[in-house]
Amino acid sequence: MVSISELQSYDHAAAYETVRHVIPEVEWAMYADDIEAIQRLKVEHDAVILAHNYMTPEVFHGVADIKGDSLALAREAEKVDAGTIVLAGVHFMAETAKLLNPSKRVLLPDLRSGCSLAESITPEDIAQLRKDHPGAPVVTYVNTSAAVKAASDICCTSGNAVKIITSLGVDKVIMIPDQYLAKNIAALTGVEVVTHPGACEVHERFTPLDIVQIRQGHPGVTVLAHPECPPEVVAEADFAGSTADMQRYVEDEQPASVALITECSMSDNIAAQHPDLEFVRPCNLCPHMKRNTLGAIRKALETGGPEIEVDPSVAAPARRAIDRMLEVH
Ligand code: 13P
Ligand code: SF4
Repeated sequence: MVSISELQSYDHAAAYETVRHVIPEVEWAMYADDIEAIQRLKVEHDAVILAHNYMTPEVFHGVADIKGDSLALAREAEKVDAGTIVLAGVHFMAETAKLLNPSKRVLLPDLRSGCSLAESITPEDIAQLRKDHPGAPVVTYVNTSAAVKAASDICCTSGNAVKIITSLGVDKVIMIPDQYLAKNIAALTGVEVVTHPGACEVHERFTPLDIVQIRQGHPGVTVLAHPECPPEVVAEADFAGSTADMQRYVEDEQPASVALITECSMSDNIAAQHPDLEFVRPCNLCPHMKRNTLGAIRKALETGGPEIEVDPSVAAPARRAIDRMLEVH
């Protein structure tokens, strides 16, 4: 969190240096009022901003305190000391933060920030899958509601799914709700995976032809894909992993030219830190993530809402499924 002394010394012009390669100076100037207000409000309200890697650069580099993929945000949410968590992400992430740190006030800047995966499945769907596949444990992607997590045995993210499935030591699992993530993970584990017809509305739009065309236009490019992409797309990529895995890959391997087959802002945020690398930027936007504007974050801090609560009837079993995941990885 920003301290009073840091706040007093906050220098908008100096902060520009971190985003100079991805945000024009004239645009940065337009963000100054909101960014300075958010820095002040965080101190006044004892708040921290947890931001997913898909935030736009002015949010990610301008106001976020803790940044990461779904797994990192869950782990960090549990450790937050401040009284208020502003979750610059989507609804299931805010619910997860509330489940892991229930005494904190958790704010989601725009309640409409949903997720096509979370909306694709209900606890009743899980009950039916259990009936159809007796004995198979239910591994649930964190991109789901608390009620769906509560009906599950264990959660996973794209960053730990292989470890979670392997840890179960079984031949068959029910892995929901992302059919593509499930198929991509099945290919890596050799475990039989029963799934559900959910998909991410951002990643399902990528095609193998997109990658072929990127390679034709940028010879030598390294292609990294998110495992929510269809398996035929992942097969064309050089590496597949969560948003944090992709970031680590770029940092470790320093590919001269790289294409991230995922949500657009991810490339902008990493490109800001690696001006020497070429980023090819196929652009599919997540409309839910993009609702976390500076204006919406500022308003959430000013008004103390919208606040996320979890139905007490599902909180304990949902938390158990998340805790089991965090114990494995
Ligand atoms: P990760 O950041 O965990 O890779 O998830 C991507 C995503 O789509 C989150 O909504
Ligand atoms: Fe959901 Fe896809 Fe948006 Fe992530 S990118 S929040 S999985 S719709």
